[in-house]
Amino acid sequence: MQLSRREFTKYLVGAAAVGLADLSVFSQMSGDGKLSIRRLATATASGEGTWQNLKVEGKIPADLNGTLFRTAPGESERFGVRLMHLFDGDAYVAGWEFREGKVSLRGRYVPSPERVEERKDGKMIYSEYGTMAPGSRRGSKNQPSVNIVEWRGGLLGLSEGSLPTKIDPKTFDHLGYENFGGVVPGYLTFTAHPRFDPTTGDMFAFGFEKRPPGTMHVIRIENKTGKAETMFKVPQQGFNMVHDSMLTENYFVIIIHPQFYDLQGMMGGKTMGENLRYDSEKPSLLYAFPRNNADGKAEPITVELPPALVYHYGNAYEPKPGKIAFEMVAYNDKRIYDFLRSWRADTQMEFVRPRVKHTVVDLNSKTFSPLDDLFEGAEFPRYDMRLTGKPARYLYAADRLYEEDAAIARIDTQKKTSTKFNIGKGRTLAEPVFVPKAGGKPSEDRGWLLVQGFDGGRNENFLEVRDAQTLGFQARVWAAGQHFPLGFHGNFCNL
Ligand SMILES: [Fe+2]
Repeated sequence: MQLSRREFTKYLVGAAAVGLADLSVFSQMSGDGKLSIRRLATATASGEGTWQNLKVEGKIPADLNGTLFRTAPGESERFGVRLMHLFDGDAYVAGWEFREGKVSLRGRYVPSPERVEERKDGKMIYSEYGTMAPGSRRGSKNQPSVNIVEWRGGLLGLSEGSLPTKIDPKTFDHLGYENFGGVVPGYLTFTAHPRFDPTTGDMFAFGFEKRPPGTMHVIRIENKTGKAETMFKVPQQGFNMVHDSMLTENYFVIIIHPQFYDLQGMMGGKTMGENLRYDSEKPSLLYAFPRNNADGKAEPITVELPPALVYHYGNAYEPKPGKIAFEMVAYNDKRIYDFLRSWRADTQMEFVRPRVKHTVVDLNSKTFSPLDDLFEGAEFPRYDMRLTGKPARYLYAADRLYEEDAAIARIDTQKKTSTKFNIGKGRTLAEPVFVPKAGGKPSEDRGWLLVQGFDGGRNENFLEVRDAQTLGFQARVWAAGQHFPLGFHGNFCNL
């Protein structure tokens, strides 16, 4: 589905009236006057505000109470500068609040100090992940645009580049940065994918020093007390791009894939997005960090794995002592970097399809089982988070996300089969978030899938509610005529 030039002009005039038009997009429409749904679904948000009594198709489950918080790079243009990379743009947080069968929506850019400064000056001052600020030598922002998680009664927005941002759950105000009592220094990156022990709520996270030799820190933070400790420090050779992690009952697992930043290129004035490299000749290196390091003598176990270009993992668990089973979404094709960094050029690039793979690593023999193919094309794998570190049979993921007629796949990792629902022509979908159903006999897949989507014909977002077991339709909530980028990650919680 694509908007015609006439339809798009109509939309643009409306957006211009409230000062939110993405003017650069208009000047760069392709020759036939069409914009791809991929581009429209990641265009600058249409507005900020709170919208009540949203239009609902179907029926909101009465037991669904809480808020789905999602964050996204929320701009495709800033003060006349087109932001090229999918990861570029100020963080826009959306909160879909469910209360006794009714839904409201709040959407707002997180007013970070850098955003406030730029808006005061009326120009782009800070560079983005894939776009330099014209004429400025200032660094980049700390954008909480990748993930948003509940932490000790509040929200943390995560950028991957620097400290988490504390965000007010009601107003989305910027409340400063979280350094966990000083344990996480300002010169450290901080993962956008910490993992949480489902019993204690403790957070396991990692970061890399932004100085040679790029030492990796492994950090555990107690949920009960907020007390943080650096469990391990491991020097590295260069600056690796590591996005995700895994947690089992006994190990925190980090894999260094051969994805790294070219420092020389970065010193040459190019962006991080332009300097990300993948070396398909080098192995990946799995680190299993023992969670029990009470005496300070534990050492990480390392196992070499085949090269892989990976952003995300599913769950991980220990099928037997010393063995770790997990799923990963592997591209193994560095064209994905070109695809992401020219996202808003609207060139006709073929989507690089990843593969969901499963393997079992033996920490004693330092071997691994053949990588089983579970599914082709799906990203953003989620599961029932109550099962982190334990066997979880089902993964839910977005198949051909941001593309027309995208689908949500339910992958049975035991039977190695899958089912899916397609969202239909003219629409697309992003990450599915699993929310357990209240009451009843608990079982792994007894829950709801909340999936944010975008309708190209209406130029409007929606939230799809599906039954996680059957993928059957339950409800669709429309966003009061608003659209905003679908973003990457979010979580459901009761704040
Ligand atoms: Fe991610």
